[in-house]
Amino acid sequence: MTTTPPLPRQLPRGLTQDELKTRVGQAALRYVLPGDIVGVGTGSTVNKFIDALAGMKEQIKGAVSSSVASTERLQALGIAVFDANAVPSLSVCIDGADEIDGQGHMLKGGGAALTREKIVAALAERFVCIADESKLVRTLGQFPLPVEVIPMAARHIARRFAAMGGQASLRLRNGQALVTDNGQHILDVKGLSITDPLAFESQVNQWPGVVTVGVFAHQKASVCLLGTAQGVKTLV
Ligand code: 5RP
Repeated sequence: MTTTPPLPRQLPRGLTQDELKTRVGQAALRYVLPGDIVGVGTGSTVNKFIDALAGMKEQIKGAVSSSVASTERLQALGIAVFDANAVPSLSVCIDGADEIDGQGHMLKGGGAALTREKIVAALAERFVCIADESKLVRTLGQFPLPVEVIPMAARHIARRFAAMGGQASLRLRNGQALVTDNGQHILDVKGLSITDPLAFESQVNQWPGVVTVGVFAHQKASVCLLGTAQGVKTLV
């Protein structure tokens, strides 16, 4: 029996989700200034940005990366990658999101890179979120919330989420607990409706064993480039 690969998700006017990601990745170049060291996130949309950034690599100093995967892609394209400790600040960080609301609060971590993404975002004066229109939501929480945790605290943290109505499960890869670039685990929490992202992020971040919660409200997007069937829209 032969299997047919799934068709790319078709959007109005024949644009696929992948094409929307390409467009926002390219559109983000306008936020990169000559001489910059650019903060670079992680994920399939950011990969489109990295590919576009390679076209102006002679004009920038390089990048600070939020994951091993992004570092490898940047270096393969000839873009220098700097240690975050060697860079006092960045003018811009370009990153994707699993969800973003109308105020720029984001839910992130689908690619398990949330902790380093938050560190890179903290270094940057401006956070430019690049996303296709499927990521825009009214209230965060339909996408399972990623939380990076110290492994010995995972069950305790899962019980705390259960007490607030969430169902946490350990993220697996090849049948084993996924291990992040930081050597930790990820819980994905379903069933939450995050109506006050700032308060939620502050609350969960102080639970013992939580490394990073995937709500980016204290470091929300300054700008969101949203890929739509009508073109790239600028929000926030
Ligand atoms: C990785 C992330 C990504 O930005 C997020 O998962 C979006 O990824 P994609 O662009 O592949 O949809 O937070 O940790």
